[in-house]
Amino acid sequence: MRSEDRREGFTLWFTGIPASGKTTLSMAVERELRRRGLRFVQRLDGDIVRQDLTRDLGFSKEDRDENIRRVAFVASLLSKNGVATLCAFVSPYREARRLAREKCHNFIEVYVKCPVEVAIKRDPKGLYKKALAGQIKNFTGIDDPYEEPENPEIVVETDKLSIEECVERIMSYLEQRGLVPPKPEEVSG
Ligand SMILES: Nc1ncnc2c1ncn2[C@@H]1O[C@H](COP(=O)(O)OP(=O)(O)OP(=O)(O)O)[C@@H](O)[C@H]1O
Ligand SMILES: [Mg+2]
Repeated sequence: MRSEDRREGFTLWFTGIPASGKTTLSMAVERELRRRGLRFVQRLDGDIVRQDLTRDLGFSKEDRDENIRRVAFVASLLSKNGVATLCAFVSPYREARRLAREKCHNFIEVYVKCPVEVAIKRDPKGLYKKALAGQIKNFTGIDDPYEEPENPEIVVETDKLSIEECVERIMSYLEQRGLVPPKPEEVSG
């Protein structure tokens, strides 16, 4: 049996305000996991999930909770079956994240931390601009709450660290937990 077939699944749960860097980091971590030889890797991203699995839901607290409940169900199935599952969701409510933690195998909360002023400057989707102009309502960080994680396994401050440094932090945590093989030796010369 290949060692990969015996590998434990886990759920890396990226939470943070819009434009904090969840999608960027989960994609970069996926690349790194595959580089390390993991074959079973699945990303679940808010933007994609909301177009399909949860397209009936909006952004009220009730709907946000239901969004996370469904995603956590899928992540639990994957992570229990050896898949490295990467979830990138604003997931602003602590209780919803706690319930996800209960369900998922090897749940690892990654707080993608970024001051709202920096996120507003980044604004890759132009949504802060719209929220600040009052054109969209219930926008996290502007007129909707974000409850910071109290005991996340990992915190990455994306206004202070580069994307590579954030990925490095996440990978070394996974290494310490024995969930990924160590970094291959750099080929020198
Ligand atoms: N250290 C960093 N980590 C992640 N992203 C960074 C970092 N530094 C700068 N950025 C930039 O910040 C932006 C983050 O956007 P991204 O779409 O990943 O955010 P998001 O958290 O997924 O937002 P949303 O909740 O709206 O989906 C990107 O343009 C990215 O290049
Ligand atoms: Mg995103």
